[in-house]
Amino acid sequence: MMESSRKSPAEKPRIALGADHAGFQAKESIKKYLQSAGYAVSDAGTWSEESVDYPDFAIRVARRVQQGQEDLGILVCGTGIGMAMAANKIGGIRAAVAHDALTARMSREHNDANVLALGARVLSEHQIIEVAVSFLGAQFAGGRHQRRVDKISELDQEPKHKA
Ligand code: RB5
Repeated sequence: MMESSRKSPAEKPRIALGADHAGFQAKESIKKYLQSAGYAVSDAGTWSEESVDYPDFAIRVARRVQQGQEDLGILVCGTGIGMAMAANKIGGIRAAVAHDALTARMSREHNDANVLALGARVLSEHQIIEVAVSFLGAQFAGGRHQRRVDKISELDQEPKHKA
C-alpha cells in the first residue's frame, strides 16, 4: 500500500512520509507543500483519522529510507516521540524529534538525521511546515561530526539484548 508521486529534480531529496491518526492532517499538508515545491514524495499512510498504531508507519518509512527507496523520512504523530522511538530501532536510521526550526536544522548539520519526527499536537500546521522546510534545507556538515555519527552507526552492529 503505497502512494507515490512524480520524480523530483535530481538535487532534491526523495521523501518518505508517514503518520498515525493524530498526524494524518499535518502529513497531508506536508505532502501538498512538498509536491508543490517539486519534491518526489511517497506516502506510507495512514490515510484517515481512524485510530492506528504509530509504530506501523514509523517502521514502513524507516525501512524505505534504510533501503534507499527515499533519501529522507518525515513522520508525524501526536508528539513525534513514539515515531522517533520506533524508527530509531531500524538499522541506519537516525530519527530526530524537532519542535522548532533550529533543532531540525541542527539534526541534519550535526547528527545527519535521516528522519524527522514531528508532533501534530505540539505544533500548528504552519509551524510543522516551517520545521520540515528547515530540516530539508540543511546539509550534514561532516568533519568532526562524521566521527560522532559513526559512533552511533557502530551501535547497529551490537547484538540486541532484552532490557
Ligand atoms: C496517539 O494518541 C499518540 O499516542 C501518538 O500519536 C503519539 O503521540 C505517540 O508518540
